[in-house]
This record gives sequence, structure tokens and C-alpha cells, in this order.
Amino acid sequence: KYGEAYLPFGFTCTSAKAHTTESLEYAQNFCVEDTDVFAITYPKSGTIWMQEILPLVLNGGDLTPIHTIPNWERVPWLEEKQLARVVDKLASPRALVSHLPYSLMPPSFCTSKAKVIYVMRNPKDIMVSSYYFHQMAGCLEDPGTFEEFMDKFLEGKVMFGKWTDHVKSWRNSELGDRIMYITYEEMVEDLPASLRHISDFLGCNLTEEVIQKIAEHCSFKSMQNNNMSNFSLMPKVCMDSDKSPFLRKGIAGDWKNHFSSEQLARFTSVISKELEGESFPLP
Ligand code: PPS
Repeated sequence: KYGEAYLPFGFTCTSAKAHTTESLEYAQNFCVEDTDVFAITYPKSGTIWMQEILPLVLNGGDLTPIHTIPNWERVPWLEEKQLARVVDKLASPRALVSHLPYSLMPPSFCTSKAKVIYVMRNPKDIMVSSYYFHQMAGCLEDPGTFEEFMDKFLEGKVMFGKWTDHVKSWRNSELGDRIMYITYEEMVEDLPASLRHISDFLGCNLTEEVIQKIAEHCSFKSMQNNNMSNFSLMPKVCMDSDKSPFLRKGIAGDWKNHFSSEQLARFTSVISKELEGESFPLP
């Protein structure tokens, strides 16, 4: 089921490989529970932000997990190899993240009542974030120039393929009230409002005091200072924050500092063409 097209492109460092044939098979056979909550994202759309938010919303604002468990163990990726190692330690209800397109979710996900929060982000900002990530992540190939990286991004020769395919797969997934859509931009603009929305969707009924506490601990600054979330526990060979920090800028619209007018026109034209006929709002 995991054809070549969806095996993450560009993973070159075999020793640090997070995705293996075994981990993809494990994901495919994973037994999803009705109470599971998934944050689904195309890479660089706000995944680790949701890894911080979800446990706090689900546990009523108890800060213990975000201060004691690294994010990749606290809310593991469905498709990465650490899931098998930590699955028995996950707090209930379980929170997981995934970059998989809808068509590659395990059969047990489709028949379960598990909920999904799908985070979308402006693809131009995703591309910028990913460009820097390729420079700092030891397991990814060098991005080349910004122009070269744009070619790869638009052709889908980057991890998890084309952004447009990912978004279309989840936007058209017909999961009804099991799925909630949110944008990175909404979260940047008003995090407490986004948290209220997430809390309502998950039926958590949080007080305003708890919402404000979670917002404070999930701010960009707090996460930059949280060693359990900023990847400082990773060896430098895997993530070199001297080249670019993982929590890099945390803003909407950084693409304006990177795109020339020609690049903007080309990018917009390709993306609009691929989304022709789709009616969902874009970030
Ligand atoms: S990954 O590699 O796919 O897991 O990356 P992902 O976590 O999806 O995306 C990384 C970007 O999210 C930004 N980020 C935040 N922005 C604002 N506030 C908070 N709290 C926050 N946490 C993470 C992170 O800085 C990356 O974006 P850029 O534009 O590179 O700064």
C-alpha cells in the first residue's frame, strides 16, 4: 500500500531513519481506539505545536507531560519507528500525530470513531520552513538553492509528496463530525480562541483559566524554552540548531521575505491549477 510515491523523499541518513518499512507496516496494522485523537499535518504546518497542545487539552492543563516527556514520545508519529516503543506508555485518551495522506491511514482508523484535527498552513510558509529544516535536519538532503527547492516542492519531490494532494485527501475525506479543520494562521492570530475550538471539538469543557494557562505554555517563546519540545535533546548530527532552530520564527507570512515576484507568480499558478474545482478555504 505504501507505494514509492509516498515513501518520504530525501531521507538519506539511514542510521537516523525515522521511517522504515517496519514502521510503515506497523502503522498500517495499528489498532486505532475510538478515543484516540490524531493531529494530521503536511510537514511544517504546526505538528509540534499540536504535540504541545493536545495532551494539555486532554488532561485539563496538567503540565507534567510537556515538561517530562519529549514531544516525539508524548504524542508520537503514527508512521515513525518510535511508536512501537512507546505505545504502551501513552496516556489515555491517546494523542498521536501523522503526516500520512488520508488514503494511507490504517483500516482500523477508518472504522473507528477516533477524532482528527487537520492543521493547514499557507503552503508558501510551509515551503520556507521546510527549506530551513532541510538545512538543519541530518536525515534530509541539502535543499540546494531556494529556487531549486521550490522546483522540488512543487513537483512533490519532498517528504510526503505534494502539499495539494495531502490537503485534498483530508479535505475530501468525508469524516463528518470526526474531523475539525484549523489553520496555523488562526492559531497564530488567536491561540486562546483556537484552544476553545479544539476543547469544544474534543468535548473537554475547559475553564477560561485553564485555556489561558495552556495558551501561555504553548506560546512560541515557551516552546522555544522547553527542552522537551525544542529538539535540543537530539544529537547535533540529527538536528543542528546552529544552522537553523527547529522553532525558527513561528510567524505567518515569512514567505514575503523569501519569494521574488516571479517565484510568487509561478508558485501561485501551479497551486491554483492543482486546486481547481476545490471549494475549501485556503490559509
Ligand atoms: S514537522 O517537522 O513537520 O514536525 O514541523 P512542524 O512542527 O509541522 O512545523 C514547524 C513550524 O511550526 C512552528 N511552530 C510554531 N509557530 C508558532 N507558535 C508555536 N508555538 C509553534 N511551534 C512550532 C515552527 O517554528 C516551524 O515554523 P517556522 O516558520 O519554520 O518557524
